[in-house]
Amino acid sequence: MRLGLAMARLAEIPRRLRVAELGPGTGPITEAILRLLPEHGRLWACEIDPMFLAHLRAKFDDPRLTILQRDARDLRDLADELEIEGFDAVISAIPFRLLGREATARFLGTVRSAMRPGAPFVAVQYDPWFLSPLLEAEFGNWRRTFFPWNIPPATLLRADAPDPATPADRGK
Ligand SMILES: C[S@@+](CC[C@H](N)C(=O)[O-])C[C@H]1O[C@@H](n2cnc3c(N)ncnc32)[C@H](O)[C@@H]1O
Repeated sequence: MRLGLAMARLAEIPRRLRVAELGPGTGPITEAILRLLPEHGRLWACEIDPMFLAHLRAKFDDPRLTILQRDARDLRDLADELEIEGFDAVISAIPFRLLGREATARFLGTVRSAMRPGAPFVAVQYDPWFLSPLLEAEFGNWRRTFFPWNIPPATLLRADAPDPATPADRGK
């Protein structure tokens, strides 16, 4: 919960209305997001594991939350189905390090395409170094915060979706 609150604060959730969470697992970050989300905000949580999905559905009863059995790599399709320009914030616990560089780069491309310009993408990682060059390539900006109050100690990264008029395509 403490880690989730740190992520939700880093994404400035109190001023976001349409939020996507990628890989909620058992829901500690979901709980923190809901704690800070405005009353009229919405949270879509994309999870692929049926066991976690059953757990999440039993755990949460909040009209602002939609739990989806959905691959987070479909995020652009989800935004299209919701008929929104993009999400105001995306929070992720996806273990990108396990996916490898190329798959992560593609994943981040889809995520960025589903975000409104200026929207923050916040990710928790346990390897402090893996994600930042890929965020630089896709978003053109990133910052890292160390979160030592977790076991294991975590790294939080934030990157803001660039304006489409100034794509962060350099280095590709
Ligand atoms: C590190 S765990 C999240 C842990 C969670 N914060 C918790 O404390 O329970 C990563 C989660 O991402 C989910 N996941 C992995 N790849 C995914 C994908 N492509 N789309 C959606 N969820 C995914 C996994 O099923 C798992 O629940």
